[in-house]
Amino acid sequence: MKYCIVTYGCQMNVHESEKIAGILENLGYTETDIRENADIIVFNTCAIREGAEDRVFGNVGNLKKMKKKNKNLIIAVCGCMTQKEQTAQKLMNTFPFVDIVLGTFNLSRLGYFIEAVKQGRKMEILQEGDVEENLPYKRTSGDNAWVNIMQGCNNFCTYCIVPYVRGREKSRKQENILNEIKNIVAEKKYKKITLLGQNVNSYGNDLSDGSTFAGLLKEICKIEGDFKVSFMTSHPKDLTDDVIDVIANEDKIEKYIHLPAQSGNNRVLKLMNRKYTREKYLSIIEKIREKIPNCRITSDFIVGFPTETEEEFEDTYSLVKQVRYDSIFAFMYSPREGTVASKMEGQIEDKVKHARVNKLLALEKKIQKEDNKR
Ligand code: 5AD
Ligand code: SF4
Repeated sequence: MKYCIVTYGCQMNVHESEKIAGILENLGYTETDIRENADIIVFNTCAIREGAEDRVFGNVGNLKKMKKKNKNLIIAVCGCMTQKEQTAQKLMNTFPFVDIVLGTFNLSRLGYFIEAVKQGRKMEILQEGDVEENLPYKRTSGDNAWVNIMQGCNNFCTYCIVPYVRGREKSRKQENILNEIKNIVAEKKYKKITLLGQNVNSYGNDLSDGSTFAGLLKEICKIEGDFKVSFMTSHPKDLTDDVIDVIANEDKIEKYIHLPAQSGNNRVLKLMNRKYTREKYLSIIEKIREKIPNCRITSDFIVGFPTETEEEFEDTYSLVKQVRYDSIFAFMYSPREGTVASKMEGQIEDKVKHARVNKLLALEKKIQKEDNKR
């Protein structure tokens, strides 16, 4: 029996696919990259922008023919798209040949679901649940091991679907994280450990045992072995001085911070509900550069947020110019149903968004060229 997993979206999803692979291998399946050879195909989906969802709808649709040829083929869809009730419904209605629709908190039930499908039942939508511990992983990212430290997000940036599909912040217990890392280090296969969370700097806020992100980092660095630690993603409003100090002082921590600014304009930042200003953001960058010389810094930006004017976009442009990031991701704003920004007046035309994103990426290219020369 063979499985094929198709993954969309962020590192969190890549890591969750490793969990799905682990579960399937425990059930006796082996991996194949060729969909035609698979007995089960799992789509691990992303909902962050419309384009990501469109791709999933297109690719799941393409499986209809395969399912006709092979009645025993099991098709499962999981991940962020299935966490949205309406989208999950739409998936089921549009593609009646999909057998399993599973939310992100119920991966451990996959085996049970597969068994039920084999007995002729269709399994639908399970969205509730908690962070699951002790599931097997099949690590697939070379000498890097992903370690999830928390799920969810409490920030409700007005453009973002994540808090709706991933729920509120839920941190894993420090002890569980440390045990997982000790096991990874003991395997001696991994040189890099990357901690994952939507907002790693607020790690521990929901645990009432005094755990903090800085504390967690320090404990991880006490583990003996030849490895480096990095993490993502940091929110500028929560990146505290003690985290910057730990990064500066600990040899095991990579000198790298992904610090999404999203915009360089204060009015837009406020509309985005980011809870910092351009000045505050720049002061954090200054602090990082002062305490951690040669720290690599990267960022995400959204252009064409509702009502963003050309001058306001220029503030984003000038921020990128000023910070000279090692690299950036620039996205055209994509309205997500249910979010505050999707209901705002003053949505920006695609043509304008394209022009802005291209301008920003051209600037990034120019900066990288100049810095590489230097
Ligand atoms: N439209 C465009 N980009 C988005 N991001 C999040 N939500 C949206 C959206 N609705 C971007 C942000 C975030 C990154 C992972 O995706 O820049 O940091
Ligand atoms: Fe989305 Fe904002 Fe949470 Fe990041 S911090 S996941 S952008 S709501």
